[in-house]
Amino acid sequence: MLYKYTDDHAIPDVIGAKHDLPQDIVNWIKIEAQPKPFEFRDDLKAGWDVCNESMFGQPDIGNTSPSSGLNYLELGLPYKVPYEKMYEEAHSFKEHYVPHRSMYEGHGGWKSLCIHGLSAVQTQYHDRYGFKKDDGSPDEDGNVPYIWTDICKWMPTIAKFFQETFTYETFARVRIMQLEPGGYIYPHTDWDLHKLGPVNLALNNPDGCKFFMKGRGVVPFKPGQANKLDIGFEHIVFNDSDEYRYHMIMHGAPGKGWGSIFYGSYQKLLRQCII
Ligand SMILES: [Fe+2]
Repeated sequence: MLYKYTDDHAIPDVIGAKHDLPQDIVNWIKIEAQPKPFEFRDDLKAGWDVCNESMFGQPDIGNTSPSSGLNYLELGLPYKVPYEKMYEEAHSFKEHYVPHRSMYEGHGGWKSLCIHGLSAVQTQYHDRYGFKKDDGSPDEDGNVPYIWTDICKWMPTIAKFFQETFTYETFARVRIMQLEPGGYIYPHTDWDLHKLGPVNLALNNPDGCKFFMKGRGVVPFKPGQANKLDIGFEHIVFNDSDEYRYHMIMHGAPGKGWGSIFYGSYQKLLRQCII
């Protein structure tokens, strides 16, 4: 089925109306991120297939952005996300976020804290902290001593939401990602395969802050919107606003109940693309 782009996927005419952005990223947005027509599978029968087989061919086809397949799926959650209160709690720690991946990648103003993880400030993948197998590959999530971190005490709405409502069978990292006014995330991929992976939940999304993907234009986000993302596509974020942006990223194993959420979300997308 041919994907039906809406206006909110379009690349803005002006990049950097309020803040400067390195010219190589501006060029990447104007050239690489332009949305191209693509088809995706419309024959999937179960939620897990939606996560793992939303692309024609095998998911492990490398980092080259393919000409087919979904880059994100908006989740239709069967409950209200208390995003206003969650935003207030996230922003109350405004000064305490730690730089994320800025030491060895070219990001600017991108910071994080873990609600669930090794600790609040260990925001990277666990192999960065020594949790590796003998062959050097990352340990399985189940072998990593993740905890609900100390900041849960100060962010009770966020903690309760993940502990009681957005219930995964197991959580790995659950992080708040802060992007400063003018901040940007440099073009990158997060793994070498294609499937719908972590869930990205917007607590706010200021006008002017946009998430771009290679060959797919803008990935729309409204406050409270949760998108399951294929982070094998090259992507960036630029916060061209005067407000801090807070999104949450959830990694883990969904478990019972989530299959119908994924499948229902996929069916809604099919209906939108038929009309
Ligand atoms: Fe990423």
